[in-house]
Amino acid sequence: MRVAITGTTGRVGAALAARLAENHHIIPLPRAICDLADPSSLKNALDSLDCDVLLNPAAITGLEACEDDPRLAMRVNSAAPGKIALWAAARGVRVIHFSTDYVFSGEHTIACTERTPPAPVNAYGRSKLAGEHAVLAHPGNLVIRISWVFGPEKPSFVDQVIAAARAGQPLAAVADKLSLPTSTADLAAWTGALLEKDCSGVLHACHSGPPVSWHGMAGFVVREMAKLGILDAVPAVAHQTMDSLPSFRARRPRFTAMDTSRLTSLLGHPPRPWTDALAAHVAAAARKP
Ligand SMILES: NC(=O)c1ccc[n+]([C@@H]2O[C@H](COP(=O)([O-])OP(=O)(O)OC[C@H]3O[C@@H](n4cnc5c(N)ncnc54)[C@H](OP(=O)(O)O)[C@@H]3O)[C@@H](O)[C@H]2O)c1
Repeated sequence: MRVAITGTTGRVGAALAARLAENHHIIPLPRAICDLADPSSLKNALDSLDCDVLLNPAAITGLEACEDDPRLAMRVNSAAPGKIALWAAARGVRVIHFSTDYVFSGEHTIACTERTPPAPVNAYGRSKLAGEHAVLAHPGNLVIRISWVFGPEKPSFVDQVIAAARAGQPLAAVADKLSLPTSTADLAAWTGALLEKDCSGVLHACHSGPPVSWHGMAGFVVREMAKLGILDAVPAVAHQTMDSLPSFRARRPRFTAMDTSRLTSLLGHPPRPWTDALAAHVAAAARKP
C-alpha cells in the first residue's frame, strides 16, 4: 500500500513511518511539506499526493498552546483534517486519524467505551473532537483514540522520570489524574494490522491493566530501574496534585481510561498490560548511555 503519513517528526508519526515501512511504501508529509496551519501548503501537498491511505497523527498537542491560541488549534486539529478527509473522499483514499482520551470530561469512574459521550474540558480536547467529527463525516474513515503516549522516538513524561532518577534528583508526579498509556511500538503494530481490516468509526487503542496516574507510572519506572541495577535503591516519588502545578494552566480531565474491547476483537487478542510495555521501555532506555 502507498501510505501517506503526516507529523513524521512527532512521536507517533515517526513510529508509524518506521514500522509500516517494513510492509508498505511510505510517503512522509512533515510540516515542511504539508503545513496544516497553512491552507495553501496543505492544498499543494494534497494536489501532488498519490496514496491508498493517509494517516494523520499531526496535531498541536500542547494543552497550554491550544488554550493560548484556540483558533490555531481548531485550524490544525479540526479544519485541516476536515480538508484532508474531503480530498480523500473524492479519491477513494481511506483516512486514519489519531485522536485522544482528552475528548472525555474525566468525570467517569469506569473505562470509557467508544459509545461514551465525549465532553472535552479544554481547548485541545474541543479541537480534537471537532477533528474527529470532520474526519468521520466521510464513511470508511477510522479515528484511533490514544492516550499518554510513550516511546523511544521522542522523550515523554516517563523519560523525564528516568533522567531525573538517574541524576539523583528529587522525584514528584501528579497523582490525581488517571488513564491507560499507549506505547508507540504497540500502536504502530496495531495500526499495521488495522490497515488490512475493513473497520471504521471510533476505536480506542491503549494498553490493558488497571488505570494509573503519572505518580503510579513514575513509581513503576523507578522500581524497574532498581530491578535492572540502574538505581541502588528505589527512591521516593512525592505526590503532586494538578491544582498545585502553575504550569497546568489548561484544565485536565481526571479519569480518561479507555475500554479496548473493540480493539481486542479486531486484533484477535487484548493489548498487553501497560506494565509490560513500560518495563520494556525502561529496559531499552537503560541500555542507552
Ligand atoms: N502524546 C500523547 O501523549 C498523546 C495522547 C493522546 C493523543 N495524542 C494524539 O496523537 C497524535 C500524535 O501525537 P504525538 O505524541 O506524536 O505528538 P507530537 O510528538 O507533539 O508530534 C506532533 C506532530 O504534529 C506536527 N505538527 C504540529 N503542527 C503542525 C502543523 N501546523 N502542520 C503540520 N504538522 C504539524 C509536528 O510537527 P513539528 O515537528 O514540525 O512541530 C509533529 O510532527 C496527535 O494527534 C495527538 O493529539 C497524543
